[in-house]
Amino acid sequence: MQPEPVPQQVLAGRRALVTGGATGMGAATARALADAGATVAAWDLDRAWDDTPEELSDLACLPADVSSSADVARAVQDTVAALGGLDIVVNNAAAHDVDARHPIWDVDEAVWDRVIGVNLTGTFLVSRATARLVKAAGPRGRIVNISSVMGRAGSRERAAYAASKAGIIALTQTTAQELAPYGATVNALCPGLMLTRRGAIFASGSDGGRDGIDALNAMARERVPARRPGLPAELAALVVFLASDAAAYITGEAIGLDGGMKTVFVNPTDPELP
Ligand SMILES: NC(=O)c1ccc[n+]([C@@H]2O[C@H](COP(=O)([O-])OP(=O)(O)OC[C@H]3O[C@@H](n4cnc5c(N)ncnc54)[C@H](O)[C@@H]3O)[C@@H](O)[C@H]2O)c1
Repeated sequence: MQPEPVPQQVLAGRRALVTGGATGMGAATARALADAGATVAAWDLDRAWDDTPEELSDLACLPADVSSSADVARAVQDTVAALGGLDIVVNNAAAHDVDARHPIWDVDEAVWDRVIGVNLTGTFLVSRATARLVKAAGPRGRIVNISSVMGRAGSRERAAYAASKAGIIALTQTTAQELAPYGATVNALCPGLMLTRRGAIFASGSDGGRDGIDALNAMARERVPARRPGLPAELAALVVFLASDAAAYITGEAIGLDGGMKTVFVNPTDPELP
């Protein structure tokens, strides 16, 4: 019998933070960074830690609302105290407007403020509070921001979410230019349809259970050239690569992870269209 290959510890000695780390792609990313040798802190909302996934039990799991600058300041302090510094930041936390999809003329200002506040302002607040640490980490310094295909192509009835994800790309490009002279890199990832509970809620409008997953798989077969949704482990592997020395010369990019989908196109046979 062949022995299992020993995973390469490409991030040994690095300290990493993942926001929105309690579920979905954030949890998969926190685990993958730890498996690659990094010491990891995961942040999420208080209530999200009520059911901390078993696979994160050896990580520092901290309550923090990324849309609050006071929370971010306190959590950065706690993270640095727990890890002894910070080299890698993954801005993954997100609020969604799937439960409130409307054309622009009906977008509720409170929904707009909430989605922009978590996704774009949250990414800004965490980047601002950690950039000096990432800068000090020099060539080990990394920021990876999770955007979306919707940040590049927009999406009907998702104005707040799409605009927040587009803003993240501009923030990525700007921060990349500011940190490049120190050797640190900043990139964005633009996932398409991904196999998470949130992805299932998006596809079905349901609570993301078994029916939602079936709807997500069906949507992927219809709209994604690869004919399947992406996996959290595939996004996590890309984050590990971007955080590694092998990616030292990649910065300011918005990298698609979408099976060729590129855009959530309008279905011309949608019965809701005039
Ligand atoms: N699932 C998809 O199909 C898909 C596609 C494109 C992009 N994305 C993006 O990928 C990332 C992860 O997606 P997911 O499907 O795992 O989503 P998810 O909803 O499962 O995870 C997001 C996490 O962020 C946390 N969060 C929300 N508001 C927060 C706040 N104010 N402070 C701290 N944490 C907060 C949530 O509690 C949750 O644990 C998100 O940025 C999302 O927008 C997802």
